[in-house]
This record gives sequence, structure tokens and C-alpha cells, in this order.
Amino acid sequence: MKARLAILRSSAVLGGIALLLQGCGGNGSPTELSPQEQLGKSIFNDANLSLNRNQPCAACHDLAWGGTGGRMATNAGGAVYEGSVAGRFGNRKPPSMAYAAISPVLSFDAKSGFVGGNFWDGRATGLRLGNPAAEQAQGPFLNPAEQALPDAACVVYRVAASSYHALYGEVWGGNIFTINFPSNTDALCAANQSVTLDTADRAKVTTEYDNIGRAIAAWEASSEVSAYTSKFDAWKAGMVVLSADEEKGWALFNDKAKCARCHVPDGPKPAFTDFTYDNAGVPKNPANPSYATHPDFIDTGLGGFLMLRPDLGPYEPQLGKYKVPTLRNVDRRPAEGDVKAYMHNGVFKSLLEVVHYYNTRDVLPRCEATPSPTIGVNCWPAPEFAQNMNVSEIGNLGLSAVEENALVAFLTTLSDGYIKR
Ligand code: HEC
Ligand code: HEC
Repeated sequence: MKARLAILRSSAVLGGIALLLQGCGGNGSPTELSPQEQLGKSIFNDANLSLNRNQPCAACHDLAWGGTGGRMATNAGGAVYEGSVAGRFGNRKPPSMAYAAISPVLSFDAKSGFVGGNFWDGRATGLRLGNPAAEQAQGPFLNPAEQALPDAACVVYRVAASSYHALYGEVWGGNIFTINFPSNTDALCAANQSVTLDTADRAKVTTEYDNIGRAIAAWEASSEVSAYTSKFDAWKAGMVVLSADEEKGWALFNDKAKCARCHVPDGPKPAFTDFTYDNAGVPKNPANPSYATHPDFIDTGLGGFLMLRPDLGPYEPQLGKYKVPTLRNVDRRPAEGDVKAYMHNGVFKSLLEVVHYYNTRDVLPRCEATPSPTIGVNCWPAPEFAQNMNVSEIGNLGLSAVEENALVAFLTTLSDGYIKR
């Protein structure tokens, strides 16, 4: 709401005169944050909240890269990031943390299927805290392949001892400072051991760990992160016109290329996702280091999560499906030559490759059965998971090369930082 008002206000004041500056905004922008949002930002950037005090959330989520990871060699290869402990990797590409906080609590309806949640597989459902992003934010601190701390008590203990502890008290009160941590807590956490607490202190840890999640989610929802300051937003506000190519891409996006069916661009502040789940038939990323130890690894997405939560619904129809990601900031990166990775496993390395795949997945033969295969030229590899693949909206769009390029031109209008605050 705040961000939208800011845009309207600027357009009113400047009467539609362009106040445009490529590459501005994002990290370090002058946007004013509420104390809770500022607290979330401080926690997000705190490397001490990892086992070896070497990895903040921001290591894998950088606004200058549109909220995904900014390590180019990683993006160009396996696209999975190393955690606090060297040699441990996750097995998915970091999606953007921007606009994650607008995802609703996971629910099911007969028409759309599953809707909402955070993570590629929706496992941060939001059912407990009413806020998927707040629940998501509790995951990485304790994930052995990420920040790798052994116990939520270690996160709370380190936050209580942080340089921003006073701000924490201002936002959430003094409860955190009344927890009776054992005197060797520091050593236990550093040695990857859990902390023994009595029931009352354990309950306080749970309360404060929830507050830590809520603060991070508040920053992710703030106008600094979910900024709505793209050229597209400026165009919607009547402040700027799109180029002929961009406008052509926008028309294709909504009609012939069918993108709008899932990456929904409707409403005053479109999310470019409907928060549903689909199997786009994406091939494996052979550079994923998981294959060295688990050559048969197959990511089953939402279905894999539902196997563990049968109370939420049958898993079979959801195998191989991933949450439709927002397309905001898909092209955003520090410089034009910089490589980003796309899709849950980061197999694609450019937007043109993504669009060409959507266009021709079911037109070109499979590489596995093609002599002298060249990916994307005379073939596509088999899907990572063939069951439940969407064949009605994806795979054979009949787009020309000119139309593919126009779609990419449109996608580049979704990078925040175009409107200067
Ligand atoms: C080592 C890299 C790494 C670190 C550190 C990390 N993340 Fe992530 N993040 C990922 C990956 C990979 C995923 C996707 C995982 C999945 O879907 O299973 C992800 C997913 C997310 C999402 C979900 C977005 C969506 O649309 O569903 C958010 C939000 C997010 N991370 C925020 C955070 C926060 C907050 C922290 C710190 C508490 C953090 N990340 C730490 C790699 C990382
Ligand atoms: C049937 C729903 C659907 C349609 C139609 C669709 N997408 Fe997607 N899109 C998805 C899903 C689901 C993913 C994630 C797939 C995965 O990771 O395996 C995705 C991923 C993407 C990504 C990668 C984003 C990232 O952060 O990695 C881009 C870019 C994209 N889509 C663009 C498009 C464009 C352009 C079109 C139209 C040509 C389109 N999509 C049509 C569902 C859809």
C-alpha cells in the first residue's frame, strides 16, 4: 500500500514528467522503514546468525540481483548455493525474497488447486503464523545446508546479543532479555549442539523466534524490497510509454504466449503470479552438485512436501509442480552481461532461453534421442519429472524469433529501481 501511494504521489507532483533513473533503489535506497522493517533488515543482513558466523540471509538473496543469488559462477552452473558449512549445498535455486511476503496462506480449491505458501514447494504454508514469509524466514537459520545453527535458541540468543538488540526491544518488548540461557550457550551453539532450557524459557524462545520471522517478513513486504518501482509500474501510472518491442511483448504475454494465465498481471499492483503450482516440464540441471552423491535425485516439488503432510491433500496430482514465481525483477542484475539462473533448479541461464523453451518444448525432439544434440537448437532434454506436466498452456506456442525477443523485452520492464523515490 505504501509503495503504491508513493508512486501515485510522485506522479501527481511531477505531473507525469519522467523521474526515471535506471538502476536506482533497492539496497541502500532512501526509503523510510518502520522500526519493525528496519529490525527485519538488520536480522536479514546479520552473518552472526549462522553456525560459522559467515552467512547472512543476504548471501543468497541480493536485491541488486532481483532478490536471488549474485554469485555468477554459481548461477552459470549448478545454481545452488553453499551454506555456512563449506561443501554443503541446497538443491534448489534461490527464488527472490522480494514479493514473497504477498503470497497468501497455502490453501486448496477445486478450480485452482493449491494456492499460496512460500518456497518452491509451498512448505512454508503460513498455517501456523498466518504469514508464509514469517514461517519461511525460520527455515534457513536451522537448515544444515544453509545457516546451519543447531537450535532456534541459538538464533534468539545471538539476536539478544546483537548490535541491534535495543531496536529489537523497542519492537517486541523485553521478553527476549529475560530468557535464562545456560552460561555455556555460546559454546554449545558454536559446537552445533542444542541448548537445554526449562519449559518456560523454551516457550519464550518460541515466541521470540516467531517475532524474528515476523520482522523479516515485514522487511520483505516493505517498499524497500517489494518496491513496485519498475518501468511497468511507471507505465501503468501513465508516467512513461513502453517501446514498440516492449508493448508488443506485453500483448503476446497476455494472449498468444499465454504467460498471463499463470504470471497474472492484473490489478493495480500485479504480482505476476497467481501463487498456484504447475509442472512446466523443466529439465534437470546436470551441474547440480547433488548428482555427484545422488545420481538418481529427482525433485518432486509440492507433491514431495504433501507426502509428509497427507492432512493437506493427496500428493500424487502435485508431484513435479512448483510455485509459479513472480516475474518482477527476473531480469534485474548489476550489469547486462551478468548471468542469472532461472527455474527451481536454475537450469536456464537467460530469459531468451526460458521463452524459447516455453515456445518449443513440445515441438523439438528430446535430446536423449537426437544425434548431435544441441540443447534448444535441435532438441530439449527430457523433463526432470514428466508426470503432471502442463501441456495445454506451455510447450508449443508458435512464436517467431521476433516475438520471442519482444517477450524478453517486456520482461526487462519488470525490474524495480526505474522510478526514483
Ligand atoms: C545458502 C543460501 C540461502 C540462504 C543463506 C538463505 N536462503 Fe532463502 N532461499 C534459498 C533457496 C535455495 C530457496 C528455495 C528453497 C526451496 O524452495 O526449497 C530459498 C527460498 C527463500 C524464500 C521463498 C521465496 C518464495 O517466493 O517462496 C524466501 C522469502 C527466502 N528464501 C528468504 C530467506 C531468508 C529470510 C533467509 C535468512 C533467514 C534466507 N532466505 C537464507 C537460499 C538461501
Ligand atoms: C501454466 C502456468 C505457466 C505459464 C502459462 C507460464 N509460466 Fe512461467 N513459470 C511457471 C512455473 C510453475 C514456473 C517454475 C517452474 C520450475 O521452476 O520448474 C515458471 C517459471 C518462469 C520463469 C523463471 C523465473 C525464476 O525466477 O526462475 C520465467 C522467467 C517465466 N516462468 C516466464 C514465463 C513466460 C515469459 C511465459 C509465457 C511465455 C510463462 N512463464 C508462462 C508457470 C507458468
